[in-house]
Amino acid sequence: MGNNLPLMSTYAYLPVNLVKGEGSCLYDDNGVEYIDFTSGIGVNSLGYADYEWTEAITNAVCTLQHTSNIFLNQTTLSLAKKLTTLANMDKIFLCNSGAEANEGAIKLARKYSFDKYGENRNKILTLKQSFHGRTLATLTATGQDKFHNYYFPFPEGFDYFETNNIEDFKNKLTSDVCAVMMEAIQGEGGVNTLNYNFVNSVYETCREKDIILIFDEVQCGIGRTGKLFGYEHFNINPDIVTVAKGLGAGLPIGGFLCNEKLSETFNPGDHGTTFGGNPVACAGALVVLDKICTKETLTEIKEKGEYLVSLLKNINSPLIKEIRGKGLMIGIEIEGNSSEIQKQALEKGLLILTAGKNVLRLLPPLVISKEEIKKGAEIIKQCLN
Ligand SMILES: Cc1ncc(COP(=O)(O)O)c(C=O)c1O
Repeated sequence: MGNNLPLMSTYAYLPVNLVKGEGSCLYDDNGVEYIDFTSGIGVNSLGYADYEWTEAITNAVCTLQHTSNIFLNQTTLSLAKKLTTLANMDKIFLCNSGAEANEGAIKLARKYSFDKYGENRNKILTLKQSFHGRTLATLTATGQDKFHNYYFPFPEGFDYFETNNIEDFKNKLTSDVCAVMMEAIQGEGGVNTLNYNFVNSVYETCREKDIILIFDEVQCGIGRTGKLFGYEHFNINPDIVTVAKGLGAGLPIGGFLCNEKLSETFNPGDHGTTFGGNPVACAGALVVLDKICTKETLTEIKEKGEYLVSLLKNINSPLIKEIRGKGLMIGIEIEGNSSEIQKQALEKGLLILTAGKNVLRLLPPLVISKEEIKKGAEIIKQCLN
């Protein structure tokens, strides 16, 4: 299945050529307007052409576009300070993407365990249906068989347990486990929410056994679910938290935060990146945190999500099997092919995502208005009827 573009055929590109965005709308090369329920796969949290974000990154790029990590700069330091404070964490390592953040988190957890328990305690447990990235280690961490093809040999030291099944977790918890990694809401895996008792039980066991608990907040973090981090819905404190997507609001950024227990684990030379902590991306991320991390905005996100769910629940279609999610991270499980509905929605002026063959995934910009939500829900209704 090739394509006639100079791009590798890794994506089934949708037939639309986008040229401009404004607020929560996008425009194609024919001037057609689309309501955006994708935000560039959870990235454009502030929508398009946000004035403060654009101004901040423009100033940053005109002042100091890059330094590398062998020097310090105030913008990167300010972001590190702000994010560690908001997350109540001790330190952060800044990088460029979600996969890179998760890869770094895995390394940090393994180094902690190596230092304390030696080299044989290195296994990472993740959830079935999870998604953690496309590098070899994060693909292996991803608990979906369909990703474990072609690229052999995959790294050792990963195993998977069933979502919301504490017995399965206990069965997989061999003495060589050093860390558990999970998403508070699984994004790519189908917008699956985790059960409160299940998460708390895993948390307690990890604490008891000195197993590092990593929350992958790449998709569900930075306000997406109506809280700064998805794990806050479970009243727990992970040891490592990874972020990317929405923090960048359009520029590549990622990071992993750790608590005090892990803050002395890495020493100079143990990990690195050339672009990570780039001051332009950091200047933008500071604006994202200023705008999203207020009580009012987070409450608004929660309410807008509830509004969208209520509109979706009013759609009387035999195709709808379940509507799930939190805040502005919503999945609609349908009878039938999600890509077909995605194409129909595009033709009607709405951009949506899929999560597997039968789930429609909605990740609008966090700044979307109720009016736009209503228009988008109306198009989904037309497609599902
Ligand atoms: C939960 C989660 N983790 C990690 C990743 C990988 O992020 P990136 O594509 O920035 O490498 C994704 C991407 O969709 C994700 O949803």
